Amino acid sequence: MTKPIEGFSKLTKEQKIDWLTTNYTADPDASKMLLKRYWNVAQDVQQLHDEFIENTISNYYLPLGVAPNFLINNTLYAIPMAIEESSVVAAASKAAKFWLDKGGFKAEVLGTEKIGQVHFMYHGTKEHLTDFFEQVHSKLLSDASSITKNMEKRGGGIHKIELRDKTAALDNYYQLHCTFETLDAMGANFINSCLEQFAKTLKAEAQEFSLFTEEEKAIEIVMSILSNYVPNCVVRAEVSCPVEDLESGDTEKSKAFAEKMIQAVNIAKVEPHRAVTHNKGIMNGIDAVVLATGNDFRAVEAGVHAYAAKDGIYSSLTHAAIENGIFRFWIELPLALGTIGGLTSLHPLVKLSMEMLGKPSAKELMQIVAVAGLAQNFAAVRSLVTTGIQEGHMKMHLMNILNQLGATEDEKKTLTHHFKKHSATHNAVVDAFEKLRKSK
Ligand code: MEV
Repeated sequence: MTKPIEGFSKLTKEQKIDWLTTNYTADPDASKMLLKRYWNVAQDVQQLHDEFIENTISNYYLPLGVAPNFLINNTLYAIPMAIEESSVVAAASKAAKFWLDKGGFKAEVLGTEKIGQVHFMYHGTKEHLTDFFEQVHSKLLSDASSITKNMEKRGGGIHKIELRDKTAALDNYYQLHCTFETLDAMGANFINSCLEQFAKTLKAEAQEFSLFTEEEKAIEIVMSILSNYVPNCVVRAEVSCPVEDLESGDTEKSKAFAEKMIQAVNIAKVEPHRAVTHNKGIMNGIDAVVLATGNDFRAVEAGVHAYAAKDGIYSSLTHAAIENGIFRFWIELPLALGTIGGLTSLHPLVKLSMEMLGKPSAKELMQIVAVAGLAQNFAAVRSLVTTGIQEGHMKMHLMNILNQLGATEDEKKTLTHHFKKHSATHNAVVDAFEKLRKSK
């Protein structure tokens, strides 16, 4: 049995790989793969990646694709997407093209407020705590001024610090609920630094507050951390067109399609099982752009799904309606994104992605990302209510199956051509591949 290891992080990368391949894999080529095939030949790039995290042993690649022809607020974008799922970039591109001659996408940011909290326990009378908070409020701000100075110069900073009584939910539990404007930064470090300073000030000032009893002075800070639930950092994106334009002037077909789209969205509004998959399709687009632009997709995922459940039932993030003969399809979701700081100025492909998008502000990036989500959902639901998802999906997945089967370039060419006219189920691909091999 493998023994625990001491000081693993201090080993060189080669030593780590050596230990790992000796103890955890029987694959004789494992170290070659880790050390050579997936290692970047440019030493500076490799070192950068090595230093992003602890215990790096290699790189884990995802394809970086581009979905062109996205008209957003009258600007044409080619959107970078980092994702492994075969059909996502193709679907986004298809949706972009569909809406290109119908006015494109319109997007607007509805709010940019970020949130952080100092969670603490207080044993005493609430009036004393309220008085203390009123007295200490300005000191909380002034003690954090060295952290907020630069952000304030650019127009951001701390918006509000509120004392919240949470004792109805948990005995003795109170919090400082704080709101921030972090401009083009995602703001996690800024917010967490402010919060940790608030906690220090709170604790120190409590010792000096004359109304507090000894027990009340002993405010117990539990933790200080931003919240990834940002229901007031929200963006909205929309497409619309006269119903008859949906199916190139075929009024009946267009109307039937529009109504089916609305039914599909309405089902996702009321049925959580469907809503989760519906929103997963949205996140195919969102995550891919969030990753390509070096943002924190886990934060986005957590915040978005909480928002989808904000009315007490997990529901669709997109909406559809026909109003006065106009089909409208829109999304509203929270996105805490940054275009400065973090990976944005470090990762070479993130830098390139940002450049491709015209070096957007955080607000512009929120709009682009929301559009990618909306486009993805339009493409998915359109397939679902017309041809079914498998047709397009399997066409895109075909290459993965052929690669698994070890098809040569010539075989791939022949079989791709064949499956333009035939349904590409997994079995059908395997059969066609075997038949082709045998025929040689
Ligand atoms: C697959 O990755 C995403 C879909 O399931 C989304 C949906 O069902 O709306 C196709």
